[in-house]
Amino acid sequence: MKLILFSACLVVATMVAFGRFTDLAQAAETSPGSVKAPEMTPQLNLAKMSYDAYCASCHGQNTAGTEKGPSFLHRVYHPGHHGDTAFVRAAKQGARAHHWQFGDMPAVKDITDPQIELVIKYIRATQRANGLF
Ligand code: HEC
Repeated sequence: MKLILFSACLVVATMVAFGRFTDLAQAAETSPGSVKAPEMTPQLNLAKMSYDAYCASCHGQNTAGTEKGPSFLHRVYHPGHHGDTAFVRAAKQGARAHHWQFGDMPAVKDITDPQIELVIKYIRATQRANGLF
């Protein structure tokens, strides 16, 4: 009897955990069209070009995410959770899959430090334009 109760609890716990992961996975992608663009300046235009060249293939147009990588508009990427140094580290060294199920992020080849700085400016400006902070 105890074993049956225990198994039932296990099933419920698994369902709850699974439900949570599914929610997270869905939140990891936003429709690019629904993302508000920040007010563009010449510097942000340059920054967007770097973002588009190096990050958009996985993190999506307008940081909206794709099936290969998460959207930066998810609260997980709020500056309080993932500060700018986390972005520098991810670009230079890649990142092990730990928040989602997209797999590991490889290090970004050939990107320079000034380009990484610009990319972060574009991501933060987009996050701000969409009320993340
Ligand atoms: C080949 C696909 C790919 C490209 C290109 C890519 N990323 Fe990622 N990135 C991922 C995936 C997948 C994750 C999620 C890892 C996880 O599960 O947490 C990720 C996670 C991250 C994280 C979170 C790391 C952490 O510590 O949790 C940051 C920051 C990030 N990417 C920044 C960038 C930036 C900036 C660029 C462009 C310069 C970029 N990524 C390009 C796939 C990519």
